[in-house]
Amino acid sequence: MHTILITGGAGFIGSHVVRLFVTKYPQYRIVNLDALTYAGNLENLSDLDTAPNYFFEKGDITNPTQLAEIMQRFQPDGIIHLAAESHVDRSISNPLAFVETNVLGTVNLLNAARHIWGENLDGKRFYHVSTDEVYGSLGEEGYFTEETRYDPRSPYSASKAASDHFVRAYFHTFHLPVVISNCSNNYGPNHFPEKLIPLIINNIRQLKPLPIYGDGLYTRDWLWVKDHALAIDTIYHRGRSGETYNIGGNNEWTNIDLVTTLCDMLDELLGRTPGTSRQLITFVKDRPGHDRRYAIDASKLQNELGWKPTVTAETGFRETVQWYLDNEAWLEDVISGAYQTYYSGQYAP
Ligand code: NAD
Ligand code: TYD
Repeated sequence: MHTILITGGAGFIGSHVVRLFVTKYPQYRIVNLDALTYAGNLENLSDLDTAPNYFFEKGDITNPTQLAEIMQRFQPDGIIHLAAESHVDRSISNPLAFVETNVLGTVNLLNAARHIWGENLDGKRFYHVSTDEVYGSLGEEGYFTEETRYDPRSPYSASKAASDHFVRAYFHTFHLPVVISNCSNNYGPNHFPEKLIPLIINNIRQLKPLPIYGDGLYTRDWLWVKDHALAIDTIYHRGRSGETYNIGGNNEWTNIDLVTTLCDMLDELLGRTPGTSRQLITFVKDRPGHDRRYAIDASKLQNELGWKPTVTAETGFRETVQWYLDNEAWLEDVISGAYQTYYSGQYAP
């Protein structure tokens, strides 16, 4: 039986990847290895509790002994590595946590894969999920391609860049069959409300100020999380070893345009007077080292493997907003406790 170890499967993107693989490939055994940090939530996968091909293991990739034991027990043929510290603002307040999880954790996982696979690399795959933020910041023109020089500017992107380099080094030095993808900003259900879109939806719901960093003209390329999961499925099965694939939504928005769109959608869905939520928009101090623009050229993935996004921004944003309105209990649960402390520290006047 083909066994895949997915790290970080209880997080935002990981939970969509786990669900896709468990339901689409009943013949595979899917093991979700997650430390359940503040960002990991088993509620995201409660619908899979009874799936016979799904296994959850609480484990920390920074702990090589624990990792070795889990790998030994499950003997995975494939690894899809998503576990990470993922929020830029947290990386500014605590860079070391990002080095530990994203760099050291990735190297531990590479070592564990080498150890368990030895010389027998046939049918094996180490898939490293990364971000477009490793390429740095664009001006008004141009796109990131797979050839763009690495130029990370936040502790988060620097840690992801370092992990990408290690993954490539293990391909060249040890012939580990790796593949890497670098994706643009994701959105969709189960996104932790420290990131822009779910934070704004949550604040509109609660009639709280909507914090926009700097002038609000920073630009991101937004991808529907289920399209990212489909891209990962495609690349896991058909991507070429040693290659990198960029994944993007071809869907650029300035932050201010995105937030006003969400305001208008929520006014409509909540039956509020048009314009109510826009009044909550508040410009706040900028993020240090804030990257101006990200935009992906995903033509390699489209031309080589035939993947392209399946939903328009209008459909994706509407479904996302509706999911948060239908799942208020999920939101209430994740914003209780430690979230309050984080929020008051991050958005202190
Ligand atoms: P997330 O923060 O929602 O989830 C991360 C998951 O990793 C959580 O479940 C957490 O418990 C787990 N984790 C953290 N530290 C761990 C450790 N030491 N050991 C085991 N598990 C640990 O992140 P996400 O947004 O779902 O991102 C997943 C991956 O995709 C990351 O590698 C990120 O860099 C990459 N990525 C994210 C985006 C995005 O827009 N969110 C875009 C491109 C790439
Ligand atoms: P974020 O969701 O943190 O993703 P990333 O920084 O990885 O792209 O932020 C998306 C954009 O929104 C980014 O330009 C920063 C901005 N932003 C705000 O303006 N206000 C906020 O409260 C947050 C969290 C982000």
